[in-house]
Amino acid sequence: MTIHKLYPLAQLKQEVITALQKIDLPLEVVNQVIISRTPEQIEGDFGFHCAAFSVSLKKSPNEIAQELAAKLQPEQDGYVQSFLAIGPYLNLQLNFQKFGQDVVENVLDMGADYGKEKQDQEQKIIIDMSSPNIAKRMSVGHLRSTIIGDSLAKILAHLGHRITKDNHLGDWGTQFGHLLRALELWGDPKIIEEHPIEELQKLYVRINQAADPKSEIYQGLSQTEAEEKAAKIVNEGRAWFKRLEDGDPNARAKWQEIVDWSMLEFQKMYTIFGVEFDWVKGESFYEDMLQPTIARLEHCGIVTKSEGALVIDMEDQGLRTVIIKKSDGATLYLTRDIATALYRSDQKFDAMIYVVGEDQKFYFEQLFGVLKEMGLKIAEKSKHVYFGLIRLTDGKMSTRKGRVIFLEDLVNEALERTKKLVENRTQVTDAREKERLVKQIAIGALKWNDLMADPKRTIIFDWDKILTMEGNSAPYVQYAQVRAASMLKGIDPLQLQKAIILAKQESECKLISLLALFPEAILSAAEEYDPSKIAIYVYDLAKTFSTFYHDLPILKETNSQIQQSRLAITAAVAETLKVGLGLLGIEAPEKM
Ligand code: ARG
Repeated sequence: MTIHKLYPLAQLKQEVITALQKIDLPLEVVNQVIISRTPEQIEGDFGFHCAAFSVSLKKSPNEIAQELAAKLQPEQDGYVQSFLAIGPYLNLQLNFQKFGQDVVENVLDMGADYGKEKQDQEQKIIIDMSSPNIAKRMSVGHLRSTIIGDSLAKILAHLGHRITKDNHLGDWGTQFGHLLRALELWGDPKIIEEHPIEELQKLYVRINQAADPKSEIYQGLSQTEAEEKAAKIVNEGRAWFKRLEDGDPNARAKWQEIVDWSMLEFQKMYTIFGVEFDWVKGESFYEDMLQPTIARLEHCGIVTKSEGALVIDMEDQGLRTVIIKKSDGATLYLTRDIATALYRSDQKFDAMIYVVGEDQKFYFEQLFGVLKEMGLKIAEKSKHVYFGLIRLTDGKMSTRKGRVIFLEDLVNEALERTKKLVENRTQVTDAREKERLVKQIAIGALKWNDLMADPKRTIIFDWDKILTMEGNSAPYVQYAQVRAASMLKGIDPLQLQKAIILAKQESECKLISLLALFPEAILSAAEEYDPSKIAIYVYDLAKTFSTFYHDLPILKETNSQIQQSRLAITAAVAETLKVGLGLLGIEAPEKM
C-alpha cells in the first residue's frame, strides 16, 4: 500500500501555515499552530487558540485573533472560506463541500488502511507484554498488560512500524528449585493434571511455609530444631535449582512440565481475548546469557563487590544500589532483564516498550539506568508503559476468595451478563451466531474497560457501566458500527465512492470534521502510548453518528443526491469505527 498524499486535515494545516507566512509572521510563530476542534459554542469546526503566539507577539490572544482575522487571506479553492476571530480563537470557517468531499473520498478510498502514515522512520519495536509467572494464576494486572500491549502493537503497526510482541514469562529463578522439591515431596500427578495452577500454587505456598522456621507447622519444636528443618528445605530447594541450572535432564523435564501446565491455562485467556505473540521467550531463555552479561557489566566498570554480592551503585542518580548477583551466586530478575535487553539490542530492535504494572515503576527506572550506564543505544528508546490497578465497586463482582479476582470468573460473568442483556434484544436468531455475538460484546466490553482511560489511571470495575448500551462502552460503539453498516446493505460501495458530498447540516459537518481527525487520534495514541486516545475518539464518532441518523433522514431521504451523500458519510463512519475498534483489539459484530 502506498500512502501518497497528505490527509485533508494535514493539508488544511498547511494551508493555514501558508496564509500565516504570507503576512510575514516569523516561522517560529507559525510553527506553533495547533489546529483542533474548537469548543462547541463557537462557529466553524476547526481553529486555533492564539495564546501560543502571545509571548512572541507580545499581545493578548484576543488582540492577535482580531488582527489575524483582518489580515489573513484565504486561498482560492482552498479549504478555508474565511478566518474569524472569536475571543482568543482564530476560527477557520471551512468550505465543507470541498473538505467533506476530500475527507469522505479519502476514507472510502483507504478503507481498512485509513489512518496509516507514510513511514520514513520505520522502527523495529519490541513490546514486552502479558508476562505472567509460571505456576501462578494470571492476575488482572497481567490481563491489563495483555490488552494494552496488544492494542499498542496494533496502533504502532498501523503506523508502519515492525512490531514483535514478546511474552516475557516469569519462568526462572530459585523459586523453581523449591517448587521442584515440593513436587518431589507432595506432588500428586492426578490432582495436578486436573487443576495444574491451583495445585502448583498450593505446593509453592506449602514449601515456603516449610522453609520458614517461624511457620506454624513447626509449633512445638525447639527453635534450633525448627531452624534446622527449615534450613534443610531451603538447601534442598537450592540443590534442585542448581540441577536445573546445570541442565540435569530430570530437573529440566519436570520444570518443562510445570511450564507446559501453566501455558495451557494462560493460553485459555489468550484464546478468549484473541491475543497472539510473536515470541514467548521467558526469563529462562536468557539463562545462558547471564554469565556473559555479568562479565560485560564488570567490563563496563560499573560493578562493585559488596558482602560477597555483585552490585551496581546508582545512588548518585537517585536509583539506589542494585544487586545483580547474590552472594550465593544466584542471579536476579534484574540480571535477567539486563540480559534480555542486551539480546534485544543485538537483535537490532530500535525500541522496547514494557507494559507492566505501576508497582514496577522504580524497578524499570533502575533497569533503564543500568542500560544507560552500559552505554546501550536502546536505553534511550526504552519505555515503561505502566498501568494502575483495578478497583472493584463493592459487592458487584463475585470473587471466590476475598478480593482476589480470578480471570475465569471475570470472563464467565461477563459472558453471562451479556447473554442476559442480548437475549431479548438481538435480531440474531441462530444459536451459534448468537453465542459468537455474546462473546464479541463481552470481551469487547472487558477490553474497553481497560482501554477507555489513560492506562496510568486506576480503573473502577463496574459491570453496569461496562455493559451499558447508552454510554461510554464497547457495546455502544459496536452497536453504532453495526447500525451504520446495516444501512449500507445492498448498496454498491463503488457508487458511494463517487458520491458528491453535500454537507449543509450541522451534524453532517461535525461528522466530517471528526472523520478527518482520525489519523491524528492514532498519532497521539502512539506518541503517548495511550490507546484511550482512540477509544475516546471512536466513542465521540459513535455518538455524533447517532445524532446524525436521528436528526436526518437517510434511507427515507427523497432527494437522491442528498441521500447518496449521507450514505457515503455513513459508509465512511462505518469504516472508521471498524478500524478504530480494530486498533483496540475489539471486534465489530456483523449484526447485533
Ligand atoms: N513476570 C513479571 C511479573 O509478573 C513481569 C515481567 C515484565 N517484563 C519484564 N521484562 N520484566 O511481575
